[in-house]
Amino acid sequence: QEQEPAVGAGSVKQQLSRLVLSSLRATVPEVEVEPMVEVSAKFADYQCNNAMGLWSKIKGSGTSFKNPNAIGQAITKNLPSSDIIESTSVAGPGFVNITLSNRWVAKRIQDMLLNGINTWAPILPVKRAVIDFSSPNIAKEMHVGHLRSTIIGDTLARMFEFSNVDVLRRNHVGDWGTQFGMLIEYLFEKFPNWQEIGSQAIGDLQIFYKASKHRFDNDPEFKERAQQGVVRLQGGEEKYREAWKKICDISRSEFDLVYKRLNVELEEKGESFYNPYIPQVLVELSSKGLIQESEGAQVIFIEGYQIPLIVVKRDGGFNYASTDLAALWYRLNVEKAEWIIYVTDVGQQQHFEMFFNAAKMAGWLPDPKEKKYPKTSHVGFGLVLGSDGKRFRTRSTEVVRLVELLDEAKSRSKSELLQRLTENGKIVDWTDEELEQTSEAVGYGAVKYADLKNNRLTNYIFSFEQMLSDKGNTAVYLQYAHARICSIIRKSNKDVEELKMSGAISLDHPDERVLGLYLIRFAEVVEEACTNLLPNVVCEYLYNLSEMFTKFYTNCQVVGSPEETSRLLLCQATAVVMRQCFQLLGITPVYKL
Ligand code: ARG
Repeated sequence: QEQEPAVGAGSVKQQLSRLVLSSLRATVPEVEVEPMVEVSAKFADYQCNNAMGLWSKIKGSGTSFKNPNAIGQAITKNLPSSDIIESTSVAGPGFVNITLSNRWVAKRIQDMLLNGINTWAPILPVKRAVIDFSSPNIAKEMHVGHLRSTIIGDTLARMFEFSNVDVLRRNHVGDWGTQFGMLIEYLFEKFPNWQEIGSQAIGDLQIFYKASKHRFDNDPEFKERAQQGVVRLQGGEEKYREAWKKICDISRSEFDLVYKRLNVELEEKGESFYNPYIPQVLVELSSKGLIQESEGAQVIFIEGYQIPLIVVKRDGGFNYASTDLAALWYRLNVEKAEWIIYVTDVGQQQHFEMFFNAAKMAGWLPDPKEKKYPKTSHVGFGLVLGSDGKRFRTRSTEVVRLVELLDEAKSRSKSELLQRLTENGKIVDWTDEELEQTSEAVGYGAVKYADLKNNRLTNYIFSFEQMLSDKGNTAVYLQYAHARICSIIRKSNKDVEELKMSGAISLDHPDERVLGLYLIRFAEVVEEACTNLLPNVVCEYLYNLSEMFTKFYTNCQVVGSPEETSRLLLCQATAVVMRQCFQLLGITPVYKL
């Protein structure tokens, strides 16, 4: 039996759900139902929608309830008394409308200001998750797809970490496979002194890769050597291991340039790490009767798919699928993860569906009807397009170098900032360091936000002009909105730290109340974003919050009004929540702009 969460813990929805659950147990003790609590669009703040479903379950079973509305009435009556709820009413076929108490809402915001935004973390049903993201391939191009995976994966990790889940951030780099024979032999051939050379000597690894591939395809003698090279590498021969490591190191230092700019932490456990586990995993799957021979390969047939999942190739080698099965085994049994999340483009969806199915057949994952966890999820995403609507490329036909792309975002945001500050005569107020940090925060933040704000499954057009615009739903606009709130507070010349202790929030004006209610929805927004693995939910919230703040600020005078203290505290709470949203999206907030 799970321990009951403390009173006051979790999102507002979670707190209301606990009240509703206790009412449901009293109202209809004979049936077990999950509380259904939603934000209400019109009539109230929240609503409980259980009555209708309950009615169809119990009508005709000799119940004393006459109709669903009567059930709604009873749910209302049996709600435990609490200082959360101001009033309730039952509408139509049994919707229970719940209006929150202004005092409670105000207090919840004040408590957050005093005790920190971490007290607004939602409660998630898992303790440990693996998030497998970024995962580029050694010696191959790290492309915009990997950029999306890096940005989306990092945000998911941040949201889970904020919700007190232990997250294992895994970089599943492609560092194993037959191409290494070719790369290593080419290294020996091109750089006889390969042990001494630095990473620069090889130059661009992608070009190196192409050249070695060319050699492989055109010289049978080289091809033969490369194929033996793989065997020697996999057999553990010292010289081959060392050369392999050298090639991986060069790639890694390129990847790290991207991670450093994006401020993304990852722990590399590449394909090679799981290689030793593959044989035992295949023995297990085989003993469960899952593996068959087909056209010389070892495969698993999966219901509903035309082609089987190949786990041992015809030449006896392992592949992407066998590695993923071993990695899943490791994550479940050694790392004890309850939720394993993979972030790649939607093009890989079938691969994931198939090996998840194989894991279910092996009994590694429970039947979701009985137990929800452990579970696996594939977080797919769409393409990045150029302004021509085709796959994103730079000017030439060559691929986009991610580091250059990020550097361009920064330099563009810097020149825009400089131009604006010069026009306003404000450039004198800025140090070089501030300029540098602000253009990084704004530039990299713009790239991330442009990626995260859409539903991840849709394709999006990469446009510097659009993402760096200060109008519309962009990171730049939101940075301005946040900086403006900070400036309102600064200009009031009040010490918010002190106001937090001595002052109180009241929500008498309708726009204050709307803002207050939206602020306290923060936890359930994060909860929803985590549950459905959708970062855009947080973006949408952040954007709406800034709109609501604008409305409040337009209609409610802050500085110099009788409500100044309360309203400054609302400004502060909005700034704190906005900053936490930025934090979850991996964007560095700026305080002046
Ligand atoms: N390296 C792969 C690619 O670039 C992505 C790996 C994703 N993770 C996994 N466990 N399969 O497409």
